[in-house]
Amino acid sequence: APARLWGGRFSSGPAEAMAALSDSTHFDWALAPYDIAGSRAHARVLHRAGLLTEEELERMLRGLDTLAADVASGEFTPTRDDEDVHTALERGLLDRLGRELGGKLRAGRSRNDQVATLFRMWLRDAARRIATGVLDVVDALLAQAATHPEAVLPGRTHLQHAQPVLLAHHLLAHAQALVRDVDRLRDWDARTAFSPYGSGALAGSSLGLDPEAVALELGFDGPVENSIDGTASRDFAAEAAFVLAMLGVNLSRVAEEVIVWTTAEFGYAVLDDAWATGSSIMPQKKNPDVAELTRGKSGRLIGNLTGLLATLKAQPLAYNRDLQEDKEPLFDSVRQLDLLLPALAGMLGTMRFDTERMAAWAPAGFTLATDIAEWLVRQGVPFRVAHEAAGECVRLAEARGAGLDQLTDAELAAVLPELTPSVREVLTVAGSIASRDAYGGTAPARVGEQRHRLASLVETQ
Ligand code: ARG
Repeated sequence: APARLWGGRFSSGPAEAMAALSDSTHFDWALAPYDIAGSRAHARVLHRAGLLTEEELERMLRGLDTLAADVASGEFTPTRDDEDVHTALERGLLDRLGRELGGKLRAGRSRNDQVATLFRMWLRDAARRIATGVLDVVDALLAQAATHPEAVLPGRTHLQHAQPVLLAHHLLAHAQALVRDVDRLRDWDARTAFSPYGSGALAGSSLGLDPEAVALELGFDGPVENSIDGTASRDFAAEAAFVLAMLGVNLSRVAEEVIVWTTAEFGYAVLDDAWATGSSIMPQKKNPDVAELTRGKSGRLIGNLTGLLATLKAQPLAYNRDLQEDKEPLFDSVRQLDLLLPALAGMLGTMRFDTERMAAWAPAGFTLATDIAEWLVRQGVPFRVAHEAAGECVRLAEARGAGLDQLTDAELAAVLPELTPSVREVLTVAGSIASRDAYGGTAPARVGEQRHRLASLVETQ
């Protein structure tokens, strides 16, 4: 007979289509090592509660060891009759220990508290791995910033030339967002570090089992406070999906810029051959597929978040089978990021920048106009007057196709008497950038400090 975990009150097994619908082993098998770890911890509290003898506990743990080895080697796999990973592994244990002993492990636990616990464990491990992957991307950005401490480019707002900035400052802006994503993973972990094991189906256990002992053995900070919440809540999963979606969105913003920067028109950067692809028909092509897949997969990560939220919405307490739909979105988001992060780190770390080209574009579009206005403010001119005057300089220069630094002394003085020739000291890209030297600004010294703070932060993670 199949080792279904229920059946006493049923006169027949499930219909073929019912079983096909119900089966989740094709994805929840990923939880198998965690399920076995949970079983070990559960066996120990059963023993401590006097429900397993010392000898039974020893045999149980040995049985779980051989099962774990057989799962790891691929010798033991789920069959068509196993409803889910928990059922399959219980069958494996019964095979190894016999029904008499093997059948004792189910006491005081339910698949409802098991799955909620194991999913948290799986996600916590995944979150740590992803944080490491994100920090590798941050490292790649830090390395580029260190290689190009003085390179400049036109900073943009509305995608229009705005003010010149250091390339390093721009790259570190992306790094800052990614470091916050790592922070978010840590914050999330602190909230997720509570074990639902012992919540049973929903009401808790009557068998004198110690949920705290199980929690600590499984690496949690403690057990959940409320067995109904423990089995019914999946906000830990939704929050993880959000953090991963946010990460995807932040990565997509880096990706988009790489895509733009590597066009012929921009020509700011060239991808290393190892991190680009060609075209099957156009021999000249070098495509930024890593960046495009990053951009594309960020949509998928958002979909996983919104899909999961829709699954959770309006579910009554406590466990509902709808909750089985919680795992695949997260498994998918994690899988995509596992693929993406190393590729992105590789692509960003090996990109070559055309710093001369970027520097040539830096003053274009009158990006130094703000410097004229702020120079005037330093001479005591009210900002509204200064802004107006700088705007007039732009109009004059634009009308005769010149740069702001090419306006004559007479032209400047005609715009505003305070506009003396010494204004030209701020009309260079380097001068403009050096002048923005308050904390967080783009001046080389500030950006160097920012880079060092980020680097030491990453090092201590
Ligand atoms: N496989 C289920 C899940 O992933 C857990 C089993 C709970 N089944 C049940 N009939 N209570 O959520």
